[in-house]
Amino acid sequence: MRMGDDRVLIVYGGRFGQSEKIASAMRATLTEKGLPSDLVPLTPKTAPDPSTHSALLLVTSVRYGHFDRNAYRLLERNRTWLENHPTQLVTVSLTARKPEKRDPQEHSYTRKFLAKSGWKGSVAVVAGSLLYPQYNIFDRLVIQFIMRITDGPTDPSQTIEYTDWEQVEKVATNFADTILSGNPGR
Ligand SMILES: Cc1cc2nc3c(=O)[nH]c(=O)nc-3n(C[C@H](O)[C@H](O)[C@H](O)COP(=O)(O)O)c2cc1C
Repeated sequence: MRMGDDRVLIVYGGRFGQSEKIASAMRATLTEKGLPSDLVPLTPKTAPDPSTHSALLLVTSVRYGHFDRNAYRLLERNRTWLENHPTQLVTVSLTARKPEKRDPQEHSYTRKFLAKSGWKGSVAVVAGSLLYPQYNIFDRLVIQFIMRITDGPTDPSQTIEYTDWEQVEKVATNFADTILSGNPGR
């Protein structure tokens, strides 16, 4: 049974703010559902506090095909806690701008992360944003190359937010319901 002061630990990774924006939106949904939370950045030391937290939401982006290594650290160091509490992973990536890639098993980076990390909780894949004007020249050229081979926009003046906010709200609502039902869904 839930205790009244249990809090959800919401951790966001990323570099250009989209994971944080998605984590904040999900936090608002959890708040509406009556679930208090703490929103913190992903660092080498991020960990749930067993005396305070009763669930974990991790929102982190893909960069050059990889997850933040601090996501792996968080999992390795807190495996027992994570396997005994409701957890939700949200992967943020640009390949997910194509709806068929939002199935975690169709999203190669997420599939690899799940296999490598042994994550046992719920998983969602959401689209991030394309911010050409904020990238340095190296990043811009690589992203343009990826976009060219995947039929995406290559105009370097463009900024496009692909995130489907309805999907984000749905994932947050389902996670809140899982927490409130006291059933980790596993
Ligand atoms: C340098 C760089 C590398 C990226 N590499 C990938 C990638 O390999 N695959 C992908 O789907 N998206 C990739 N993206 C897209 C990001 O995942 C997307 O822009 C996301 O919104 C970034 O979230 P953040 O602001 O929280 O970091 C990359 C973005 C940047 C800037």
